[in-house]
Amino acid sequence: MARKGSRYVCQACGATQPRWAGRCESCGEWNTIVEEPIAETIPRALGPKARGRAIELVGLKGASEPVGRRRSGLGEFDRVCGGGLVPGSAVLVGGDPGIGKSTLLLQVAAALARAGAVVYVSGEEAVDQVRMRAERLGLAGAPVQLAAATNVGDVLATLEAGPAPEAVVIDSIQTMFIEVLDSAPGTVAQVRASAQELIRLAKRRGFVVLLVGHVTKEGVIAGPRVLEHMVDTVLYFEGERGHQFRILRAVKNRFGPTDEIGVFEMTSAGLLEVENPSALFLAERRGNVSGAAVFAGVEGRRPLLVEVQALLAPAAVGAPRRAVVGWDSGRLAMVLAVLEARCGLALAGNDVYLNVAGGLRITEPAADLAVAAALVSSLTGVPSSAGAVFFGEIGLSGEVRAVGQTDLRLKEAAKLGFAEALMPVRRPGKGRRAEGPRPAGGPAVREIGHLQDLVALFRGTAARPGARGRDRAGGSAGI
Ligand code: TYD
Ligand code: MG
Repeated sequence: MARKGSRYVCQACGATQPRWAGRCESCGEWNTIVEEPIAETIPRALGPKARGRAIELVGLKGASEPVGRRRSGLGEFDRVCGGGLVPGSAVLVGGDPGIGKSTLLLQVAAALARAGAVVYVSGEEAVDQVRMRAERLGLAGAPVQLAAATNVGDVLATLEAGPAPEAVVIDSIQTMFIEVLDSAPGTVAQVRASAQELIRLAKRRGFVVLLVGHVTKEGVIAGPRVLEHMVDTVLYFEGERGHQFRILRAVKNRFGPTDEIGVFEMTSAGLLEVENPSALFLAERRGNVSGAAVFAGVEGRRPLLVEVQALLAPAAVGAPRRAVVGWDSGRLAMVLAVLEARCGLALAGNDVYLNVAGGLRITEPAADLAVAAALVSSLTGVPSSAGAVFFGEIGLSGEVRAVGQTDLRLKEAAKLGFAEALMPVRRPGKGRRAEGPRPAGGPAVREIGHLQDLVALFRGTAARPGARGRDRAGGSAGI
């Protein structure tokens, strides 16, 4: 039982439990429950004095001022924020330690400082360290006002005094603490209270507050998830440590769409914007190798072409291995089962390795067809055509199902010089816009109705009788 005056709080999700446990019942994380003292602030029943004034209730329609957004000038960042930062809003930038959050925000701060006052409060690095980084990024000349501080009281006092800045960066919220609270910095109580105070001031004075939050698997530091409901915008900065590209993703945005991504490349001179991510992901592709297929994907609202690689090798004794990087292993198991059961391929005796090149993580079910193509190509030793892209979801009976944003995928494939697209059958149906003939210059469309049609292409055998396929007669060499 909790001792009097203390409670048990999960540092990952903020759930409160009556007693300590190894695993949080609410979010399922392990070793995240920490005992925290409860401040004795039990509210008494509201007396007549505490009653407020009646508020005016209004209709939904009314004249509202358009939000004036502040563009940082870093195009990829502005895109993810919905076209710029909204004054008075709070933005949380979450991500694994070492992924590049401080680098990104220093670049954003420097870009914003060209137009107005920007304060950068570093709780993790000393002033000299931040200066060295700025020097390396070539930003030392930017008029950013820098401070190394962790006491929220001091930060608030600084921001209260003088004219309000345009934007304030707090790096990171986990290092901030409020003196009157007993808990250690980084605990849910401290993180929440610190953020609350900073956000309140930001709303009052009309500056943008950008909070950095670390996410750790161990949950040693409070995950920024407890902050997600307090801020207006939540951005996640993702990427594989060993790879140079990074994706900034909006997961919540009260002022814009959440399906936007920004792509950056981490270089020795900081983060560079990548305007054409597909070219980056396909840069090291070697044509005419078996076991590879290009997936025409869509991340957020951006088309993204990426190579899926598969390797099948005879398994040694015991259960065969299934190793997946960048995709869902459950989905791989499903595609393998469908290939076995519906197409008669013998895969059970093979180790299967699947890799999404470049370190990208794909979550779209539309990648099924590209994965299947890579697997069949590896099994048969027949390379897929270097000029072909694949997309389509696979159902359990082996049917290839339609996916969204076909035109966007085809356009991107055409832009990168792909001549052919293997994709689901397009049916202009009820409630769906009938798509016209493919735009001139776009890739030739080859409709795959069933997974067997795909397998037949690699085997060089005739297509399944009765299968639908518009361009089959034309055929494509190389598949
Ligand atoms: P950092 O921004 O400190 O990460 P975070 O704030 O998310 O913990 O940067 C992390 C890594 O980025 C660091 O290991 C070194 C690398 N890096 C570069 O490759 N180039 C650069 O110009 C900078 C500043 C950092
Ligand atoms: Mg940092």
